[in-house]
Amino acid sequence: MCGIVGYLGNKKAIPVIMQGLKSLEYRGYDSAGIAYIKNDKVNIIKKAGKIKNLDNVLNYKEDTYLGIAHTRWATHGKANDINAHPHKYGKITIVHNGIIENYDNLKKELIKKGKTFISETDTEVVACLLDEIYEKNKNMLEAINLLAKRLNGSYALNIICSDEPHTLYAVRKDSPLIVGNGNQEYILASDIPALLHVTNKYFLLDNYDIVKIDNNGLKFYDENLKQIKKQEKVYTGDLEVSSKKGYDHFMLKEINEQPELIKKLFRKYAIGDKFSNVFDISKYKSIEIVACGSAYHAGLIGKYYIEHLANIKTTVTYASEYRYQKNFFDKDSLVIIISQSGETADSLAALKLAKKNKIDTLAIVNVFESSIAREAKYVFYTEAGIEVAVATTKAYLAQILVLLMLAANTLKDQSEVINSLKLLPNLLSQYINNYDYKKIAKKLVNYEHIFYLGRGLDFSLAMEGSLKLKEISYIHSEAYPAGELKHGTISLIDKNTGIIAIVIDKTIKEKTISNIKEVASRGAKILAITNDEKNEFSDTKILLEDYNDILNPLVTIISMQLLAYHIAKLKKCDIDKPRNLAKSVTVE
Ligand code: M6R
Repeated sequence: MCGIVGYLGNKKAIPVIMQGLKSLEYRGYDSAGIAYIKNDKVNIIKKAGKIKNLDNVLNYKEDTYLGIAHTRWATHGKANDINAHPHKYGKITIVHNGIIENYDNLKKELIKKGKTFISETDTEVVACLLDEIYEKNKNMLEAINLLAKRLNGSYALNIICSDEPHTLYAVRKDSPLIVGNGNQEYILASDIPALLHVTNKYFLLDNYDIVKIDNNGLKFYDENLKQIKKQEKVYTGDLEVSSKKGYDHFMLKEINEQPELIKKLFRKYAIGDKFSNVFDISKYKSIEIVACGSAYHAGLIGKYYIEHLANIKTTVTYASEYRYQKNFFDKDSLVIIISQSGETADSLAALKLAKKNKIDTLAIVNVFESSIAREAKYVFYTEAGIEVAVATTKAYLAQILVLLMLAANTLKDQSEVINSLKLLPNLLSQYINNYDYKKIAKKLVNYEHIFYLGRGLDFSLAMEGSLKLKEISYIHSEAYPAGELKHGTISLIDKNTGIIAIVIDKTIKEKTISNIKEVASRGAKILAITNDEKNEFSDTKILLEDYNDILNPLVTIISMQLLAYHIAKLKKCDIDKPRNLAKSVTVE
């Protein structure tokens, strides 16, 4: 959500900044804007809609070496030109990622003092407040520090002061911001892909750190305005993160990366017939998994593995509910927070709540050194690499694998899991390549409503299948526990309802099949994703082989991902950047 880029260096700033901004498109946005210094004056251009609207009116040859830019995902006020960032007030121009929780009170206070606002945003209030503080002391470092003390909520800010047209400032709290350190050039960004065209060396910022970049170089200050040294990091991952590498979409590329990802995790954590260096969950009496969206669905599959293999009672809760429900904070329990981005606001808040109540916390996170990774007591990285498509695929699978390893690590004999995982990369490649998902997608693409039905583990899988379909194809879809249909929902079923039945879980298969037959007799056509060879209950099927309880759910996932992908492709949807969605959900 929202992307930030700031640049000061020896190259013309607009092309560098725009390349960075485009690589952050995956985060989700609905307007974009830039401010740059030319002849010591601030110029601002901003446009609602896609980055190309901004691109169309920019002069890439402009003689400018300093600028800040932003992609905005609307929170306070509509997605229009006025509300787009940057916002300028007096001498201060800023771009902002995050939410200022007390902006309304601050705004009222400022209005009483005679200030006026043209946008509906919290960001313009921040610019106004900073300008007011700065006008009193004429010292930007002190002014930013005082500003930080007045703001509640989260923010990553890039700041230009008109009195210092050759200086770039930044500050952050609970929203991501990193500083790329190139050769006599510096780039501020929300995420690594936005700085790789300049440098792979970067610094992470802690909450309230202030950055000052000018012709003398880069300086960091802590919240007491003491100059501090930060440790430089080097990104050693894939430098071509912004390339689809020949695939039509990032989502398809990322689906195809899953076999290699499993091999990578396996190489790292499996030694002989045992797991090694895997966090030990056996000392905990219970486990609470807390997450959002697909990470929550991964938690449901994880619950299955942990309860069946490790015999530890496990609950799975939406982070947005956990924060506000009554929790018992049992000291013998472990809270596992799962998050691809490591920045999801609700998951981060849930983590902080568990920590505050002295519960051990383990973060299962994809993005290195993200807020959740840094905040948790223990962290287990999913190592899926940068995921660009908004719809998660490889990171979701990696989350499940990590949960499986946590569960299997408690077993005396881990050989069945190890041997199964050895087979998995080839099986996944087989299911990626050997099925004509497009043909099946054609049968489903015209439905307005599609139910994913299943019971037990199959229902947990169905929830992810349904989310994948609705988020990228915009077809209304619901996952429903097949046994619950006749308590109300079956009234919605007729020949115009699409049904995808997940029938993998042998413990309840017969019951699920009876429920599916009830649906079929109301006229609905059934597509089954199943390992039931007889399969007398569906009109069309994706037949999976029956391996074992470890592998069966994992191969099902691939088929559901590809089915959703091909339906969305037939509908010509913007698969990698679905409307209204953001990759990193940093607001509550
Ligand atoms: O970054 P996180 O894993 O914390 O994100 C959680 C959800 O926002 C995310 O899984 C979302 O549901 C995806 N778009 C699903 O594909």
